[in-house]
Amino acid sequence: GGAHTTAARGLRFAPVAPNTADAVTVPDGYRQNVVIRWGEPILRGAPAFDPENQTAAAQAGQFGYNNDFLALLPVPGERGRRLLVANHEYTDEVLMFRGYDPRNPTRRQVEVAWAAHGLSAVVVEEDSRSGRLTAVPRHPLNRRVTATGAFRLTGPAAGSDLLKTSADPSGRKVLGTLNNCSGGTTPWGTTLHGEENFNQYFANGSSATDLRYGIGTSATERKWERFDRRFDLAQEPNEVHRFGYVVEFDPYDPGSTPRKHTALGRFKHEAATVRLTDDGRPVVYSGDDERFDYFYKFVGSKRMRHGNSRSAREHNLSLLEEGTLYVAKLTGDSPATDIDGSGKLPGDGEFDGSGTWIPLATATAHGAVSHVEGMSADEVFVFTRLAGDKVGATKMDRPEDIQPSPHTGKVYVVLTNNTNRGKAGSPAADEANPRSGNKHGHILELTERHNRAESTSFAWSLFLVAGDPSDPSTYFAGFPKGRVSPISCPDNVAFDPHGNLWMSTDGNQLGSHDGLFGVATRGERRGELKQFLTVPKGAETCGPVIEDRRVLVAVQHPGELDGATVEKPASAWPDGPGRIVRPAVVAVWRADGCDIGV
Ligand code: FEO
Ligand code: CA
Ligand code: CA
Ligand code: CA
Repeated sequence: GGAHTTAARGLRFAPVAPNTADAVTVPDGYRQNVVIRWGEPILRGAPAFDPENQTAAAQAGQFGYNNDFLALLPVPGERGRRLLVANHEYTDEVLMFRGYDPRNPTRRQVEVAWAAHGLSAVVVEEDSRSGRLTAVPRHPLNRRVTATGAFRLTGPAAGSDLLKTSADPSGRKVLGTLNNCSGGTTPWGTTLHGEENFNQYFANGSSATDLRYGIGTSATERKWERFDRRFDLAQEPNEVHRFGYVVEFDPYDPGSTPRKHTALGRFKHEAATVRLTDDGRPVVYSGDDERFDYFYKFVGSKRMRHGNSRSAREHNLSLLEEGTLYVAKLTGDSPATDIDGSGKLPGDGEFDGSGTWIPLATATAHGAVSHVEGMSADEVFVFTRLAGDKVGATKMDRPEDIQPSPHTGKVYVVLTNNTNRGKAGSPAADEANPRSGNKHGHILELTERHNRAESTSFAWSLFLVAGDPSDPSTYFAGFPKGRVSPISCPDNVAFDPHGNLWMSTDGNQLGSHDGLFGVATRGERRGELKQFLTVPKGAETCGPVIEDRRVLVAVQHPGELDGATVEKPASAWPDGPGRIVRPAVVAVWRADGCDIGV
């Protein structure tokens, strides 16, 4: 009510104040429930969660750990039901196992961790009276995908020598997926999942490319290499080349083998989001989440087919195998750079400029061509970071989620932070990454030339520079700073039905817990930013799904604070004191049943 009713449509709620409550805090007049927690059984035969006696077999039938990306899809023919697809990015062994000894993990613990990675598909059901959303165990669409199940490599680099191992001389069959962070939903009814920090699972890296990908030169923290030689590069140098892709999952075919698409390149894929060209070809945006790394786009050459026939679905599942992979280069058009402390944008007063998508390689039905001198097409698709280095792509402040607006086509590129920007020996601030020691992150708005998804050039401008609005280096698309919520470290983003951009945060540097925010992207209230919820101690907010009547968030790694263990928990969420901390998915709705924020 009151002043909040004048906010942008979709953002008319009393903002949640920054806080450190060990809870999910939502606006007045809103309700919430935990939809599903780590360990809840979802497959037929899976046992109830028993944290003191967890086994890999149990975990493989239960919801995985550290939920991140979420998709909420239709379930044809079943009223009030939806299919929830969730990423399980990584495991926190010290918070999972009583008495965990990081120097000596047991085989049982390691195998539970393998089974707790990957994806879950689980049907959820709405109680129309209460608004609660709850899981439907044993539904035939429910599925778990883990770090050990069967995957297929597709596209130009599949079968190449770079991808062959002693266990897989074909170079086409991989076991498992790792570190699935954010993702996207395709217009043809599949989901995409970015394999992000896969480097951390592999020991004994040695080559220059291993180092460029952040692979350590000694044992890993998890020590999986003691239990499966494929995690030891000294024994299997190519296994690591089979991770770092965009995974495509067909949630409507529980028997299908998920795919890893080499045509979209190999890097720390934060996410993958799809827009179609006017003639129906997929364009996929993806950021490489590392300080001073790049963001990319793939333009497919095949058109999506409509309809749900078997042949249409099979065709559409091959759309991400042929096309051109590009990397972004941004050029500013004013002399000034660092905006720290000045109180306004220096130079011409606008942080904006132009950019080009530099082609790296093209995959066709008859083979692939490299556009990068000195690199073969296989090398471009497997060592994509090196291709970006060679062509002089723009080094960004940790590209996280990238989201094209379904309303305008403008593309929002989330740069979460980069405290090394401007440090001695590191790149200086530039117009597209305009803040030295960038603690709080920023968001760029891209407009593809002629607003065509496949264009090879674009215009860009600064949309948001995050932080406390009293900090003169912040910017909220020109909206008055006295009327916005403080925000720090935007990460995953999603659009609501009104065209507002919602952002979840990871690593708040302002003393509050992480949370979920919405910002208007159009009209007179463009830049109006409001906080919708906060998450418990130690947690990051992930996977937002914003629908008319419901918001879903993944509460990832609650209780993940230095020194916390099962014996000494840092959070009592979600089940209260004395119970094990569990990552979980939360639904939020309006108590009166009306639309969110109207
Ligand atoms: Fe897994 Fe870049 O966040
Ligand atoms: Ca993320
Ligand atoms: Ca997103
Ligand atoms: Ca993050």
